Formats: sequence, structure tokens, C-alpha cells
Amino acid sequence: MAQPLVLVTGGAGFIGAHAVLALQQAGFEVLILDNLERGHRDLVETVLNAQLIVGDIGDRPLLDQVFHSRSIAAVLHFAAYIEVGESVRFPDRFYKNNVNGTLTLLQAMVAAQVPSIVFSSTAAVYGLPQRLPLEETDPCAPINPYGRSKWMVEQILADMERAYGLKYVIFRYFNAAGADPHGRLGEDHHPETHLIPLVLQTALGRRPHINIYGTDYPTPDGTCIRDYIHVSDLAYAHVLGLKYLLAGGESNVLNLGNGQGFSVRQVIDTAARVTGCHIPVQHSDRRAGDPARLVANADRARRILGWQPQYADIEEIIAHAWQWHQHRHSCA
Ligand SMILES: NC(=O)c1ccc[n+]([C@@H]2O[C@H](COP(=O)([O-])OP(=O)(O)OC[C@H]3O[C@@H](n4cnc5c(N)ncnc54)[C@H](O)[C@@H]3O)[C@@H](O)[C@H]2O)c1
Repeated sequence: MAQPLVLVTGGAGFIGAHAVLALQQAGFEVLILDNLERGHRDLVETVLNAQLIVGDIGDRPLLDQVFHSRSIAAVLHFAAYIEVGESVRFPDRFYKNNVNGTLTLLQAMVAAQVPSIVFSSTAAVYGLPQRLPLEETDPCAPINPYGRSKWMVEQILADMERAYGLKYVIFRYFNAAGADPHGRLGEDHHPETHLIPLVLQTALGRRPHINIYGTDYPTPDGTCIRDYIHVSDLAYAHVLGLKYLLAGGESNVLNLGNGQGFSVRQVIDTAARVTGCHIPVQHSDRRAGDPARLVANADRARRILGWQPQYADIEEIIAHAWQWHQHRHSCA
């Protein structure tokens, strides 16, 4: 029997590509839609071996053609701009891509009667936490345009479910990190703003130092604490979320984090151990809007999907990322 076909937007990007691998491993057929503005064609071609449609989620005629030419069971929607600082400088671009683009995608889905979507949201929808660990029922009050763009889409999804019956799983990821344990894929954002790849680029001598923004936070070592979730664990959650929707599951909002926080200093020290390299550090002032701690309660995803992170250890997360960085940059 033919396997269900799923459309993965943003499948040439970091998390989307890992999800494509996990979907293929679980027996799904995958179609990738990515405009390649921030994605990697080489990885799609050499690693994923999935059909790539180079196009934009805001291109309604293209979407209509895709949805009407193939029988698509569901959409996994990763495509978005992701960098918080960029969203502050160019909010209009973020609302156009992340909100308008998604709205066009949702309208095309409704028109073609594609019944379900898994949407990549973010811990940034919570804003400054009032208590920890964060639960899905905690108030959402994002403090930057990136977080607001994702929160707007969450509300649009809830309204479109009420109006048209479109079912969704919204995943609120905490800090995606690590890389495919077999070294096939990894993180390669341009520009890179995430801590672990920046630390590893410093270890490789590609950056002079790593900045620590603030050492006077009310945490044990004074640096910010974040919840790092292995990208392969995130990817597998998408397989479970998709199966849940295909089995008729109700729409849901689920945190994806590993529930453990690690400080910036712990990440750097662990990276120094894993790589065996000296990692020069520069101390800078706090950045506006950085909470001291952000940690997820992901019990709901465990309970509803039976999801269980396999790589919760920060050493393993960094070791997988290091394997990828060495390979990527020696081949680049
Ligand atoms: N990386 C994280 O830590 C993190 C945390 C929380 C949420 N997220 C969310 O996860 C998703 C994936 O993040 P990522 O780190 O893989 O980002 P990424 O930039 O690596 O991948 C995004 C992909 O989407 C594509 N894309 C962007 N706009 C598009 C458009 N209009 N049409 C078609 N393709 C488009 C890009 O070319 C890229 O390949 C995003 O929605 C992001 O907001 C990421």
C-alpha cells in the first residue's frame, strides 16, 4: 500500500531536513517545498533524496498546483524566518513571511481539503516567563516580532480550525541543537546566532571568541540557562505528531524541550571538553529581553504522543553537533 504523502515546507533548513529524514525512516513519502533562501540544496540532494519543489509558501498558484497534482495527507510547516534580532530590525519582513506566507499556505490547504498541519512554533511566544518550567497553559506575551509572528499564526490556526475544521499540532520548541547522530545533517544558519554552533565555530578557529552576554543573572554561575533539545528528538516528535493527526487526534499545542536547563557557561565548558579545544570567551553586557532561565515542561507531549527524548545529555548534543561541524567545514 502507498505510504501517505506529506508536504514539508522549509525541508531544506535545519530542523525541517532532520524531520524529513525521520519521516522517511518512518515510511512516509515526502515532498519538500523550500525557496532555498536560507536552506541547503546540497543536503536535500545528497542526503534526503526527496523531491524538492523550489518555491515560496506565499505563492498561491504554486501551492494550488502542488495540492491538486498530488494527494497530500498533511503539511509539516517549518518555513519561516527565525532570527530574533533580524525581526526587530525588519519586522515587516517577518510578518510578511511568517504570517502572510502561512496564511496563504493555510488558505490553499483549506481549498484543497488537506486536513491537517504540524506547525513549528517557539518558546518565544511565552515572552518573559512568570514561572518555570513553562507549561502550554501559561500566558503568551511575546516580546519581539519573531515571537509575535508565531503567536499570530497560533491564533490564526485556532480560528481556522473553528471555521473550517483544519486540525493542527502546534509544537513550541525550546532551543533546537545537536545534529543527526550519524553525521549526515546539522546546523548551518547564515548568519548563525545560536550558542552551540557559535561555540563550535570558535573551537574550529573560525571565530576569535564566544560572547557571554551577562554574568550577573540570578543563576548558579551567573549566565543564562536555556533548555537545549536535540534536533533528532524534535524530528521524531513530528513523526508522532503527524501520526496522531492522521489517526484523528484533536488539535493540540505541545512544548518540546528536554526539561533540563544548561547555562551558557556549562555549554562552553562542555564544548571545550568534547572538542579538546581552548574556547576563548569575551564577556559582554546583558542583552535586552534575555530572561535568566527558560525551561520547558514537556509532559503533555510525552503523555499525548508517547514522546521520549533520546538525547537529553548536553555532552551528547554537543558531540553530535561537533561531528557535523568538523565534517561540514572540512568539506566546505
Ligand atoms: N532553530 C531553533 O532553535 C528553533 C526554535 C524554535 C522554533 N523554530 C522554528 O522551526 C522552524 C525551522 O527552523 P530552522 O532552525 O530549521 O530554520 P532554517 O532557517 O534552517 O530553515 C527554514 C527553512 O525555510 C525556508 N523558507 C523560509 N521562508 C520560506 C518561504 N517563504 N517559502 C519557502 N521556504 C522558506 C528557508 O529557505 C529554510 O530552508 C522555523 O519555523 C522556526 O521558527 C526553530
